[in-house]
Amino acid sequence: MTSTTQTTTDSPVVLEAHNLRKHYAVKRGVFKPMATVKALDGVSFQLQAGRTLAVVGESGCGKSTLARSVTMIEPPSSGELHYDGRTVLGRSAAELKELRRTVQMVFQNPYGSLNPRKTVGSILTEPLVINTDMPKDERRARAVAMMGKVGLRPDQVDRYPHMFSGGQRQRIAIARALMLNPRVVVADEPVSALDVSIQAQVLNLMMDLQEELNLAYLFISHDLSVVRHIADAIMVMYLGKPVEHGAKDVVFNRPRHPYTRILLAATPRVNPALRVERVIPKGELPSPLNPPPGCSFHKRCPFATDRCAAEVPALRPVDDRLVACHHAEQMT
Ligand SMILES: Nc1ncnc2c1ncn2[C@@H]1O[C@H](COP(=O)(O)OP(=O)(O)O)[C@@H](O)[C@H]1O
Ligand SMILES: [Mg+2]
Repeated sequence: MTSTTQTTTDSPVVLEAHNLRKHYAVKRGVFKPMATVKALDGVSFQLQAGRTLAVVGESGCGKSTLARSVTMIEPPSSGELHYDGRTVLGRSAAELKELRRTVQMVFQNPYGSLNPRKTVGSILTEPLVINTDMPKDERRARAVAMMGKVGLRPDQVDRYPHMFSGGQRQRIAIARALMLNPRVVVADEPVSALDVSIQAQVLNLMMDLQEELNLAYLFISHDLSVVRHIADAIMVMYLGKPVEHGAKDVVFNRPRHPYTRILLAATPRVNPALRVERVIPKGELPSPLNPPPGCSFHKRCPFATDRCAAEVPALRPVDDRLVACHHAEQMT
């Protein structure tokens, strides 16, 4: 990673990914050869304690695959991964179990991600049962204390998930993620399933917890307006690759990739100034099974030239951010 997207504070890097790839072999038909989906195709970033990197992009661009890869729910096909400066890939099962406590996950769907047959108390104590030898009453006390931290009433500890609203369930999911004192929380669309009025409450809670616990967030969202307040840095992805990556203000105020500009223009609450040049992306997101040659965005890009159809643009520093566009200098 170049210095372009580095922050200036000296807080430690708690999560680092280098050139992560996740390729899936898929069958296209009974008599056809296997094909490869490059769901993640070379993603690098650094995340510091207390900071938030937001990963944005349309559905299908590889955001959830990135979340599963960096949390080792599904290990990447290749690349390097470091938790707290320690290499993750290639570890023994026992070492991995210990390392994985550092990085926890909050899923998008607060209805599907909590076991309906377990009480909040047992959902929250489960990570302690699996990973520690803490006695039972201490586990319960920890769970009750954590409920208070996330704004749930301690007397709700013996209730089941269905007795809570969507926002409360997401509070339970956040509490569960924090039970092992992680340094990093990977949140995959944590508020997308919630009403807009509830989204702000959960985002505020996440920001309060970040400050109190010095947590780092990898915050995934398809909606730029959601990440506007919470992010320090933004990584925009397209077909498994980052196309623009830099500090939030740089990316929001002076986007250099045509795709970033289109995403921002389609998010009226974010940057009204960009709406004047509103350009509707041509066509659909192409299939990662059959990505176009050259720049993978060129078929939808209003600025594409012959070079874009022929040559893959490298992710390179331009004007304080990294951008993968041959014409980034002209996008002022
Ligand atoms: N297990 C899998 N097998 C094959 N293809 C997959 C698998 N998981 C995801 N993909 C494909 O990888 C691409 C990225 O998916 P995903 O990471 O879910 O995107 P996002 O979260 O941004 O919507 C999609 O084309 C998806 O169909
Ligand atoms: Mg997803």
